[in-house]
Amino acid sequence: MGTKVEQTKEPIRVAVTGAAGNIGYALLWRIASGDCFGHNQPLILQLLEIPPGMQRLDGVIMELKDSAFPLVHDVIGTDDPELAFKGAEAIFLVGSRPRTKDMDRSDLVAANGPIFVGQGKAIDAVSSRDVKVITVGNPCNTNALIASANAPGISSRQFTAMTRLDQNRAVGLMAEKAGVPASKVQDVFIWGNHANTMYPDPRFGVVDGNIATEVFENDWLQGDFLETVATRGKAVIMARGASSAASAASAAVDHMRDWWLGSNGRIVSMALPSEGWYGVPEGLVFSFPCRCEGGEIIVIGDLPIDEFAQSKIEENVAALLEERNAVNDLL
Ligand code: NAD
Ligand code: LMR
Repeated sequence: MGTKVEQTKEPIRVAVTGAAGNIGYALLWRIASGDCFGHNQPLILQLLEIPPGMQRLDGVIMELKDSAFPLVHDVIGTDDPELAFKGAEAIFLVGSRPRTKDMDRSDLVAANGPIFVGQGKAIDAVSSRDVKVITVGNPCNTNALIASANAPGISSRQFTAMTRLDQNRAVGLMAEKAGVPASKVQDVFIWGNHANTMYPDPRFGVVDGNIATEVFENDWLQGDFLETVATRGKAVIMARGASSAASAASAAVDHMRDWWLGSNGRIVSMALPSEGWYGVPEGLVFSFPCRCEGGEIIVIGDLPIDEFAQSKIEENVAALLEERNAVNDLL
């Protein structure tokens, strides 16, 4: 029998797409255990797959039930997006193809982009008007843009894409180099696109109480550090023979948990449709420094920008405009 939990709240409906995939297999157990929405928040899990994935999904649901999570009141498995998204207050858009080692993430847009048209429309039709959506499937910034454009009845502020894995990679690298636990590294964040152009900004980072730019050499921060964070996805694919899954699931939990429960004053990276912040064209789904409070994402709009940061922001804007042009017919 599971641990006894005080459950006074109504269950919330949480949808996960691609639930029988690699990320799904790590993500569902973290959500079900309470790591994302709180250990006193009951859940109804609504899991979406495509028909070829339905048998695997049956197995995943058997295992979820066999885990006897106290917080899980029901698990629904379906290949119908309108059933999966019905009444959902939080949605993880994971289901889509991962790249192979010879591809860039943007090469996936032709295969994966159309998925987010139908799913955006289904969210618009049946989800809670306050739904919080995180897009993980790549290229995640542009897929979030497609989903949002197809859900005109829901504020674009509710559609985000995940750059938290990149932030966590940056934190992990700094912690390792400084010889401190990751918990001692704060306020390092990502600008731009979840792509090789991304900019992990160290300028406001704090490492064991010291300013990151005083702890590390600039040559490392703008050289190996930046390069390693930006290309880590490919490095994991080369080493594992499959794209990152457990770390991606963990980052998705971090992103949604902070949005749902608050980031406690910390700066976190979230990609969301620009409202013109830092000169980024309106509507582009761009990763900014954010804080989360009361279920809202607050973009920190007044950080000083130096020449290097400006050039990286512009590089990411150019890349995202190119991706947006490529999917114009899906918007
Ligand atoms: P996977 O192939 O193991 O699983 C994907 C699952 O999605 C499969 O079970 C498949 O049947 C299902 N699926 C495909 N199309 C679907 C649709 N239209 N509706 C519902 N389900 C659908 O892949 P994975 O390793 O879980 O990765 C999923 C995606 O996440 C990939 O696009 C990958 O590149 C991306 N990803 C993003 C990040 C990030 O940081 N943003 C990190 C890791 C992976
Ligand atoms: C990652 O960053 O690990 C994912 O986006 C997967 C990939 O294709 O790199």
